Amino acid sequence: MTTTIIDGKAFAEKVRGRVAGFVAGLKERGITPGLAVVLVGEDPASQVYVRNKGKQTLEVGMNSHGHKLPADTSEADLLALINQLNADPAIHGILVQLPLPGHLNSDLVINSIDPAKDVDGFHISNVGLLGTGQKAMVPCTPLGCLMMLRDHLGSLAGLNAVVVGRSNIVGKPMAQLLLGDNCTVTIAHSRTKDLAEVCRRADILVAAVGRPEMIPGDWVKPGATVIDVGINRVPAPDKGEGKTRLVGDVHYESAAAVAGAITPVPGGVGPMTIACLLANTLIACHRANGLPEPEGLTA
Ligand code: GUN
Repeated sequence: MTTTIIDGKAFAEKVRGRVAGFVAGLKERGITPGLAVVLVGEDPASQVYVRNKGKQTLEVGMNSHGHKLPADTSEADLLALINQLNADPAIHGILVQLPLPGHLNSDLVINSIDPAKDVDGFHISNVGLLGTGQKAMVPCTPLGCLMMLRDHLGSLAGLNAVVVGRSNIVGKPMAQLLLGDNCTVTIAHSRTKDLAEVCRRADILVAAVGRPEMIPGDWVKPGATVIDVGINRVPAPDKGEGKTRLVGDVHYESAAAVAGAITPVPGGVGPMTIACLLANTLIACHRANGLPEPEGLTA
């Protein structure tokens, strides 16, 4: 049996190309989608993410508005900026990079974003809309996973899907999306009994726990589709002293030997996240202008 390696990098490029096509059409009508990204503090990983988001936003023809605030920014000042962005008609999407410095209440900040501009899909209104099957803004990483699953499998109806991890950013919305596509969904987590057995029942196995190579190949059902959301940096002494490499939550070599299809790390889910952020910004812009949903980019 040959295993398909799901190429997230190539798929993300395709999604960005589709987004760019829609943006070109909007520009002919005098509309340019605008994405505001707010970064508080100097977390190095966040700085890299934010830089990439800004760069790719411009590449698809959208306007990028970066707001860098000092780590000691007060909650009042941050909320004032969000209010200003909420009211600005040139801004269609607002993303506040997480994690925020400890003195800021993330829930309060996220819930102050206009739900229509909440391109992360983290606002309580969007969480409720997704959970009740209504038109929502959908979190980018699970949306990217869903797109890859549909692309590879076609219909997901009736398949057993196991999501390992119950975060608000990935695990829970992923489960909602799979349920929306008529999977039989199990959410497993650190307290799940006999996790190996639960995973072995999965036709679709989504790993989103943030623990390097936690899921070995013998937890994977032969022929299953494996989506690895984990991005973990681990020491790689074989590459030299102090060197590191990225691994997923799945042990790639052993899982790839039994899976029907698998996403690699890096180059799987990762590149899809920003592509879906751009798709969400486009969707928000369409909705703000009363235009139909851009086809092939929604949940
Ligand atoms: N930090 C890590 N991932 C994300 C994400 O998807 N959205 C935001 N806002 N912050 C993040």
